[in-house]
Amino acid sequence: MNNQVKKIGMLTGGGDCPGLNAVIRAVTKAAIANYGYEVIGYKFGYRGLYNNDFIKLDAHSVSGILHKGGTILYSSNKDNLFDYQVEENGQCVRKDVSDVAVENMKKEGVDVLVVLGGDGTLTSARDFARKGVKVIGVPKTIDNDLSKTDVTFGFNSAVDVVVDALDKLHTTAESHHRIMILEVMGRNAGWIALHAGIAGSADVILIPEIPFSLDAIVTKMNERSQRGLPFSIIVVSEGAMEKGGELTIAKIVSDSPDPVRLGGIGNKLAMALEARITDHEIRSTVLGHLQRGGITSAYDRLLSTRYGVAAVELIAKGKFGSMVALKDGKMTYAPLEEVIGKNKQVDVDSELIQVAKSLGVSFGE
Ligand code: F6P
Repeated sequence: MNNQVKKIGMLTGGGDCPGLNAVIRAVTKAAIANYGYEVIGYKFGYRGLYNNDFIKLDAHSVSGILHKGGTILYSSNKDNLFDYQVEENGQCVRKDVSDVAVENMKKEGVDVLVVLGGDGTLTSARDFARKGVKVIGVPKTIDNDLSKTDVTFGFNSAVDVVVDALDKLHTTAESHHRIMILEVMGRNAGWIALHAGIAGSADVILIPEIPFSLDAIVTKMNERSQRGLPFSIIVVSEGAMEKGGELTIAKIVSDSPDPVRLGGIGNKLAMALEARITDHEIRSTVLGHLQRGGITSAYDRLLSTRYGVAAVELIAKGKFGSMVALKDGKMTYAPLEEVIGKNKQVDVDSELIQVAKSLGVSFGE
């Protein structure tokens, strides 16, 4: 046991997802029961660290939250303390206020910061580690795009939501002989579309890693009609784009560290296909934030619990500046320095892509 540590501060940053509460619960329970550490949770991610706004976490406060989506600590995907908006002399200016956070931790006697987040949130965690703060990261995101881990928590629950939506779209597509397009999240990685597309029996899966052509999609639709299947399901990842085309941007959130919000490719695709396919009606659905809500899947409850317990073990072993990870079914860890800035995309030669192709799924190539 690392006797230097007495108190853990924990925060959840970036977009929320199912599993955050399960990690909070596991860290709190394992830290108190196995090592006698105290645990506090900062509210609204790094903003809480800056404002010294926290709650005490104990067995009572984390009771009954395992299955719940969201985060009892709240979250923010805007507050980068290394480039933070503050008011000075009546003017809004951006500055590095990370020292305030470090001071706050010292004041409260917090020895270690446990950060539950994706690439943006863990970039700040890495930057705090560079300042000498003891940090442990836990890989969170429905997008599954963090490197050095096979899977992030939240991904499986999001895939379940998409598969459920695809099952529902299938029945109505079949009744009306329509082409149904489902736009899903994932930013610049096609993990959600690929996994849910296969599990939800999509006919076409469009992912950022494989730029698509409209001709290929039309050919696939016609083929199906000729085979007596006059309806089709297309899953399109928000980051997918036509060959030679551009990303479809929904909005720019200027005060966010990662300001680009993707969205709109589903409707764009529907319009483009309507101009080429006249014998079927086309409808587009955007699943949006439903993918981040609801209850946590059994898989994510288990994974998040394992991650939480592993994070406490890393603290006890003094392995700071690292992120817990899952590799080949086993809990391990990786230096945050090696995690950050390496978007994990779908390998286009992977077994899963081949499996889909073997079943006749088109990637619009
Ligand atoms: O990273 C998680 C995610 O849900 C992405 O899949 C999506 O592009 C983005 O966050 C949406 O962000 P916001 O909640 O700010 O609209």
